[in-house]
Amino acid sequence: MLIFLWAESQGHVIGLNGHLPWHLPADMHFFKTVTTGNTIIAGSKTFASFPHALPNRKNVVVTHQAATNFPAGVTVLNSFDAVREYAIQRPNEKLFVVGGAQLFEGLQDDVDFLYRTTIDAGFDGDTWMPALDYSKFQRINWQPGVRNEKNPYDYAFEQFQRVAQ
Ligand SMILES: NC(=O)c1ccc[n+]([C@@H]2O[C@H](COP(=O)([O-])OP(=O)(O)OC[C@H]3O[C@@H](n4cnc5c(N)ncnc54)[C@H](OP(=O)(O)O)[C@@H]3O)[C@@H](O)[C@H]2O)c1
Repeated sequence: MLIFLWAESQGHVIGLNGHLPWHLPADMHFFKTVTTGNTIIAGSKTFASFPHALPNRKNVVVTHQAATNFPAGVTVLNSFDAVREYAIQRPNEKLFVVGGAQLFEGLQDDVDFLYRTTIDAGFDGDTWMPALDYSKFQRINWQPGVRNEKNPYDYAFEQFQRVAQ
Protein backbone atom coordinates (compact mmCIF):
# COMPACT_ATOMS: atom_id res chain seq x y z
CA MET A 1 0.00 0.00 0.00
CA LEU A 2 1.13 3.54 -0.73
CA ILE A 3 1.14 5.99 2.16
CA PHE A 4 2.01 9.69 1.91
CA LEU A 5 3.97 10.88 4.94
CA TRP A 6 4.73 14.56 5.33
CA ALA A 7 4.60 17.61 7.56
CA GLU A 8 3.16 20.92 6.48
CA SER A 9 2.96 24.30 8.13
CA GLN A 10 0.48 27.12 7.54
CA GLY A 11 -0.13 27.68 3.85
CA HIS A 12 0.87 24.07 3.02
CA VAL A 13 4.60 24.92 3.14
CA ILE A 14 6.77 21.77 3.15
CA GLY A 15 10.25 22.86 2.08
CA LEU A 16 12.83 25.63 1.83
CA ASN A 17 16.20 25.53 0.08
CA GLY A 18 16.10 21.77 -0.26
CA HIS A 19 15.35 21.14 3.40
CA LEU A 20 12.57 21.30 5.97
CA PRO A 21 11.82 24.88 7.05
CA TRP A 22 11.50 23.91 10.74
CA HIS A 23 13.20 21.84 13.37
CA LEU A 24 10.60 19.62 15.04
CA PRO A 25 12.30 16.63 16.69
CA ALA A 26 8.96 15.08 17.70
CA ASP A 27 8.00 14.82 14.04
CA MET A 28 11.39 13.37 13.12
CA HIS A 29 10.83 10.79 15.83
CA PHE A 30 7.38 10.02 14.41
CA PHE A 31 8.88 9.67 10.93
CA LYS A 32 11.50 7.25 12.21
CA THR A 33 8.98 5.22 14.21
CA VAL A 34 6.51 4.69 11.40
CA THR A 35 9.02 4.10 8.60
CA THR A 36 11.53 1.84 10.36
CA GLY A 37 11.20 -1.70 9.07
CA ASN A 38 9.22 -0.50 6.07
CA THR A 39 10.03 1.23 2.78
CA ILE A 40 10.49 4.90 2.01
CA ILE A 41 10.06 6.25 -1.51
CA ALA A 42 11.66 9.67 -2.08
CA GLY A 43 12.12 12.00 -5.01
CA SER A 44 15.78 12.62 -5.80
CA LYS A 45 15.71 16.10 -4.24
CA THR A 46 14.25 14.80 -1.01
CA PHE A 47 16.71 11.91 -1.02
CA ALA A 48 19.53 14.46 -1.44
CA SER A 49 18.31 16.20 1.72
CA PHE A 50 19.10 13.07 3.76
CA PRO A 51 22.69 12.71 5.02
CA HIS A 52 22.69 9.16 3.63
CA ALA A 53 20.27 6.36 2.86
CA LEU A 54 18.11 5.94 5.95
CA PRO A 55 19.03 2.87 7.99
CA ASN A 56 16.74 -0.03 8.90
CA ARG A 57 14.33 0.54 6.07
CA LYS A 58 14.33 0.03 2.34
CA ASN A 59 15.25 3.21 0.43
CA VAL A 60 13.67 3.79 -2.99
CA VAL A 61 14.53 6.88 -5.06
CA VAL A 62 12.46 8.23 -7.94
CA THR A 63 14.64 9.91 -10.56
CA HIS A 64 15.37 10.09 -14.25
CA GLN A 65 19.01 9.42 -13.42
CA ALA A 66 20.84 6.11 -13.69
CA ALA A 67 20.99 3.84 -10.65
CA THR A 68 24.78 4.19 -10.65
CA ASN A 69 24.36 7.79 -9.41
CA PHE A 70 22.99 6.49 -6.10
CA PRO A 71 24.49 4.48 -3.26
CA ALA A 72 24.53 0.68 -3.48
CA GLY A 73 21.46 -0.83 -1.87
CA VAL A 74 19.17 2.01 -2.92
CA THR A 75 16.43 0.95 -5.33
CA VAL A 76 16.03 3.39 -8.24
CA LEU A 77 12.74 3.81 -10.10
CA ASN A 78 12.61 5.97 -13.22
CA SER A 79 8.90 6.86 -13.51
CA PHE A 80 5.66 7.07 -11.56
CA ASP A 81 4.46 4.01 -13.48
CA ALA A 82 7.48 2.15 -12.12
CA VAL A 83 6.40 3.21 -8.60
CA ARG A 84 2.87 1.95 -9.29
CA GLU A 85 4.21 -1.37 -10.53
CA TYR A 86 6.51 -1.60 -7.50
CA ALA A 87 3.49 -1.09 -5.21
CA ILE A 88 1.27 -3.56 -7.06
CA GLN A 89 3.95 -6.21 -6.61
CA ARG A 90 4.06 -5.56 -2.84
CA PRO A 91 0.39 -5.32 -1.71
CA ASN A 92 1.18 -6.25 1.88
CA GLU A 93 4.07 -3.85 2.40
CA LYS A 94 3.85 -0.33 3.78
CA LEU A 95 5.45 1.93 1.19
CA PHE A 96 5.86 5.44 2.58
CA VAL A 97 6.07 8.13 -0.08
CA VAL A 98 8.04 10.77 1.84
CA GLY A 99 8.00 13.53 -0.76
CA GLY A 100 8.69 15.90 -2.08
CA ALA A 101 5.99 17.89 -3.80
CA GLN A 102 6.68 16.34 -7.21
CA LEU A 103 5.99 12.83 -5.90
CA PHE A 104 2.93 13.89 -3.94
CA GLU A 105 1.60 15.58 -7.08
CA GLY A 106 2.27 12.64 -9.37
CA LEU A 107 1.04 9.86 -7.09
CA GLN A 108 -2.00 11.50 -5.48
CA ASP A 109 -4.47 9.29 -7.38
CA ASP A 110 -2.65 6.15 -6.27
CA VAL A 111 -2.17 6.77 -2.57
CA ASP A 112 -4.12 4.67 -0.05
CA PHE A 113 -3.34 6.48 3.23
CA LEU A 114 -2.20 9.97 4.21
CA TYR A 115 -0.06 10.55 7.31
CA ARG A 116 0.00 14.31 7.78
CA THR A 117 1.66 16.34 10.48
CA THR A 118 0.11 19.79 10.59
CA ILE A 119 2.20 22.50 12.20
CA ASP A 120 0.21 25.53 13.25
CA ALA A 121 2.95 28.08 12.57
CA GLY A 122 4.08 30.18 9.63
CA PHE A 123 7.38 29.51 7.82
CA ASP A 124 8.96 30.84 4.66
CA GLY A 125 8.99 28.20 1.97
CA ASP A 126 9.66 27.45 -1.68
CA THR A 127 7.91 24.08 -1.84
CA TRP A 128 4.26 23.42 -1.05
CA MET A 129 2.06 20.37 -0.58
CA PRO A 130 -0.18 20.00 -3.63
CA ALA A 131 -3.90 20.50 -3.01
CA LEU A 132 -5.13 16.97 -2.36
CA ASP A 133 -8.80 16.06 -2.80
CA TYR A 134 -9.64 15.30 0.82
CA SER A 135 -13.24 14.42 -0.13
CA LYS A 136 -11.76 11.10 -1.27
CA PHE A 137 -10.37 10.36 2.19
CA GLN A 138 -11.73 9.97 5.69
CA ARG A 139 -9.76 10.93 8.75
CA ILE A 140 -9.15 7.89 10.91
CA ASN A 141 -6.83 9.34 13.54
CA TRP A 142 -5.89 12.65 15.12
CA GLN A 143 -3.29 12.99 17.84
CA PRO A 144 -2.13 16.35 19.21
CA GLY A 145 1.62 16.82 19.49
CA VAL A 146 3.25 17.78 22.76
CA ARG A 147 4.46 21.38 22.72
CA ASN A 148 7.63 21.91 24.71
CA GLU A 149 11.01 23.66 24.62
CA LYS A 150 12.34 21.44 21.83
CA ASN A 151 9.07 21.43 19.89
CA PRO A 152 7.87 25.02 20.29
CA TYR A 153 4.81 24.85 18.03
CA ASP A 154 1.27 23.56 18.11
CA TYR A 155 1.16 20.51 15.87
CA ALA A 156 -0.86 17.35 15.36
CA PHE A 157 -0.51 13.98 13.70
CA GLU A 158 -3.39 12.95 11.44
CA GLN A 159 -4.12 9.88 9.38
CA PHE A 160 -6.56 9.56 6.51
CA GLN A 161 -7.72 6.51 4.57
CA ARG A 162 -9.00 6.53 1.02
CA VAL A 163 -12.73 6.00 0.89
CA ALA A 164 -13.87 3.14 -1.33
CA GLN A 165 -15.56 4.63 -4.42
N1 LIG B 1 7.74 18.71 4.92
C1 LIG B 1 7.86 17.48 4.45
O1 LIG B 1 7.26 16.54 4.98
C2 LIG B 1 8.72 17.23 3.26
C3 LIG B 1 8.76 15.94 2.71
C4 LIG B 1 9.60 15.75 1.59
C5 LIG B 1 10.32 16.79 1.05
N2 LIG B 1 10.21 18.01 1.61
C6 LIG B 1 10.95 19.14 1.05
O2 LIG B 1 10.51 19.31 -0.29
C7 LIG B 1 11.60 19.79 -1.08
C8 LIG B 1 11.87 18.81 -2.22
O3 LIG B 1 10.68 18.60 -2.95
P1 LIG B 1 10.65 18.73 -4.55
O4 LIG B 1 9.22 18.61 -4.96
O5 LIG B 1 11.43 19.95 -4.93
O6 LIG B 1 11.50 17.48 -5.06
P2 LIG B 1 11.29 15.87 -4.96
O7 LIG B 1 9.87 15.51 -5.28
O8 LIG B 1 11.88 15.38 -3.70
O9 LIG B 1 12.26 15.39 -6.12
C9 LIG B 1 12.09 15.84 -7.43
C10 LIG B 1 12.84 14.93 -8.35
O10 LIG B 1 12.17 13.67 -8.43
C11 LIG B 1 12.39 13.12 -9.72
N3 LIG B 1 11.12 12.96 -10.41
C12 LIG B 1 10.00 13.72 -10.31
N4 LIG B 1 9.05 13.25 -11.13
C13 LIG B 1 9.58 12.16 -11.77
C14 LIG B 1 9.09 11.23 -12.71
N5 LIG B 1 7.83 11.33 -13.21
N6 LIG B 1 9.90 10.24 -13.13
C15 LIG B 1 11.17 10.12 -12.63
N7 LIG B 1 11.68 10.97 -11.72
C16 LIG B 1 10.89 11.96 -11.30
C17 LIG B 1 13.27 14.09 -10.48
O11 LIG B 1 14.58 13.68 -10.18
P3 LIG B 1 15.85 13.90 -11.20
O12 LIG B 1 15.96 15.39 -11.34
O13 LIG B 1 16.97 13.27 -10.44
O14 LIG B 1 15.49 13.20 -12.48
C18 LIG B 1 12.95 15.40 -9.78
O15 LIG B 1 13.96 16.38 -9.94
C19 LIG B 1 12.78 19.91 -0.13
O16 LIG B 1 12.80 21.21 0.41
C20 LIG B 1 12.43 18.91 0.96
O17 LIG B 1 13.06 19.20 2.19
C21 LIG B 1 9.44 18.25 2.71
